[in-house]
Parts: sequence; structure tokens; C-alpha cells
Amino acid sequence: MAAPRFTIRFIPLIFALVLSWLISPLAAAVLSSNYYDHTCPKVDSTINKVVKNAVMNDNTVPAALLRMHFHDCFIRGCDGSVLLNSTSKNTAEKDGPPNISLHAFYVIDLAKKELEAMCPGVVSCADILALAARDAVALSGGPTWNVPKGRKDGRVSKATETRQLPAPTFNISQLQQSFSQRGLSMEDLVALSGGHTLGFSHCSSFQNRIHNFDKTHDLDPTMQPSFAASLRKVCPMHNKVKNAGATLDSSAITFDNTYYKLLLRGKSIFSSDEALLTSSRTKTLVSRFANSQEEFNEAFVKSMIKMSSISGGGQEIRLNCRVVN
Ligand code: HEM
Ligand SMILES: *[C@@H]1O[C@H](CO)[C@@H](O)[C@H](O)[C@H]1NC(C)=O
Ligand SMILES: *[C@@H]1O[C@H](CO)[C@@H](O)[C@H](O)[C@H]1NC(C)=O
Ligand SMILES: *[C@@H]1O[C@H](CO)[C@@H](O)[C@H](O)[C@H]1NC(C)=O
Repeated sequence: MAAPRFTIRFIPLIFALVLSWLISPLAAAVLSSNYYDHTCPKVDSTINKVVKNAVMNDNTVPAALLRMHFHDCFIRGCDGSVLLNSTSKNTAEKDGPPNISLHAFYVIDLAKKELEAMCPGVVSCADILALAARDAVALSGGPTWNVPKGRKDGRVSKATETRQLPAPTFNISQLQQSFSQRGLSMEDLVALSGGHTLGFSHCSSFQNRIHNFDKTHDLDPTMQPSFAASLRKVCPMHNKVKNAGATLDSSAITFDNTYYKLLLRGKSIFSSDEALLTSSRTKTLVSRFANSQEEFNEAFVKSMIKMSSISGGGQEIRLNCRVVN
């Protein structure tokens, strides 16, 4: 009598165990700050040294690394998919449409090479990128933080999936949707948009604001007029200058809160930046960050850790960050 009832009672448990065993390879990796303490204790200092050297030779490297990490995490989670090269059968993310600002892949390669010599097959490319982005911010005068580690590298990278990145023409509801799909809040949106304190944009990414904005305005009326005019000068309608564009704030190699101060004065580059002023909740945060560098730094760190923990379906430690094993 007792035996069958016992069995029946445990059917759901057995079912759950089998199910969890089946899906466990897909379960999110648990990240931790001391992940490599025993297997590769010099991972942080090695990457820091490589990034520092690269930045000394080229001050556009920090912005590139920060954007690369954002791009990585927003497509397939933080799994190093942005680093993969195209192959004869596949066009990779880095060759997809909004790739114009992606560069400095060589920095990740250099760090990977040193780490492979030191602790072969241990440190994922996705982790290297997360650490390099952290160092990029700190080396530009921004805050630093402990990066949770233990990401695995993915085997898929598709140019068509770059459509999943938020576009610079997005309004606040489109931005909110893009972020919430990845578990990120409106506060994360405002804090992470502060990444635009570093770097540069090509004309194509903001031309919607300076030519034929809408039926009644040629220029986006929310832009400060002389600022809009100066952008139009470097980016005429039929722009022939290759790589013409503008920096994202007036101190583009310094990580500070200038981006928010300029945003409040109609001097942001993208419609997606300006959109942060169109909801009272996000506008309040913009003002807070404009008033306090410390508050911005604190929020940025919190949100970076969240963004860089978006889990991907990675399964391996790539030996070369540009090719799957
Ligand atoms: C909120 C949605 C976002 C949109 C719509 C957006 C859009 C863009 C666009 C269009 C560019 C310029 C591409 C070009 O024309 O060269 C850019 C550059 C950049 N973005 Fe964003 N971005 C967003 C969020 C972020 C986040 C979350 C970060 C990092 C925390 C980030 C960091 C950067 C950096 C550093 C650059 C400059 C890259 C360089 O100079 O190499 N962006 N972004
Ligand atoms: C990846 O692509 C870059 C740029 O096209 C090329 O220089 C590099 O040799 C490629 N690396 C590998 C491992 O295929
Ligand atoms: C961007 O894509 C184009 C072609 O789709 C490619 O020629 C170019 O090398 C890519 N840029 C980077 C930085 O990979
Ligand atoms: C944002 O754009 C979408 C798509 O064009 C539109 O449906 C939506 O109403 C817009 N939202 C706001 C707040 O403007």
C-alpha cells in the first residue's frame, strides 16, 4: 500500500530533477568576483596593464572598449559574440550595419595572448571584455569596481542580430522596452547612457536631428540652436568627408558628468539621449547626475554590474577571441 503512494508522491520531484538536469547546461552561469583566484590570479592586473598600454598610445581606446562591451551584452548576453570574426559561411556581428564605431579589438587579442601564456584555456573572452571595459572607465577618470567573472564564450555571432541594439532614433518607450527585455530598469537606462561621456559618433547616427527632422522643422527644436548649427556644419546633408562626426560630449576622453549637464542644455547628440528628458522619472535622474558626479558614478557602477551580468548561452573558453574552438 505504502510503496506506490510513495512513488506517486515523488513523481513531480523526479520530473523536476530530470528537467533541471536537461536544462542545466543552459542555466545562467553564476558570476563571482573571485572566480579566477585559484586558476588565474593575475587576470585583473594583466588586463589592466594591456589596456593601460593601449590607452597611452590611442585615447580612443576607452570609448571603443566600453561600447564593445555594451554591444556584446545586448546581443545574446555577455558571451563575447561581438568579438567573433565573420567566416565564409557566416557574417558576424562586427560586420553588421551599426558597426561603424567598433574598433580596438586588438586590445582584447593582446590581453588574451598574455592570459593564454599564463593560464591556458581558463579566462573567457567575454570576461576579458568586461574587465577591459571597467579599466577603460577607470583610466578615463571614472570610478572602478569589482567585476563579477565566470562568463562563458558563445559560438554564435550574426550580423542580422545587431538590429536588436537600441537605435539612436529611439524614443523613451522604445528605450525602456529594449532595456527591460534585458532586465534593466529606467534608472539603468539613464545611468548607462552616461557612457556617452566618452567617445564619438559618425554623422549618420544623428542626421535625423539636423536634416528634415519633421514636417515643420528642419532641425530638432529640442536642440540648442547654435549647437545644432555647428553639427550641421560638420555634417552637411551630402556629407563627403569620411568619418565626419562629433564627440558625444565636450570632454570625450574624460569620464565625468558633463554629458548630463549638456543634455539639460539641449546639447546631446542622439535623439535617444534627448529622450531621457521626456519622462519625469528619467529627467529627474538626469538632473541628479548633472548635479553630482558622485551620484552618477555610484549609479553607473551599479548598472554596469547589472548590464555585464546579462547571461549568455556561452559554453566554452575560446582560445582565440575571434574564432570558436
Ligand atoms: C541607450 C541606448 C543607446 C543608444 C541608442 C546608443 C547609440 C550609440 C550610437 C549610435 C553611437 C555612435 C555610433 C557611431 O556613429 O559611431 C554610440 C557610441 C557610443 N556609445 Fe552608445 N548607445 C546607447 C547606450 C550605450 C551604453 C549603455 C553604453 C555603455 C555603457 C554606450 C557607450 C557608447 C560609447 C562609449 C560610444 C562611443 C564609441 C566610440 O567613440 O568608439 N552606449 N552609441
Ligand atoms: C579576423 O579578422 C581580422 C580583420 O579582418 C583579421 O585581421 C584577422 O586576421 C582575423 N583573425 C582570425 C583569427 O581569423
Ligand atoms: C563593418 O562592416 C563592414 C562590412 O559590413 C566591414 O567591411 C568592416 O570591416 C566592419 N567594421 C569593423 C570594425 O569590423
Ligand atoms: C515611440 O515610438 C513608437 C514607434 O514609432 C510609437 O509607437 C510610440 O507611441 C512612441 N512613444 C512615445 C512616447 O513617443
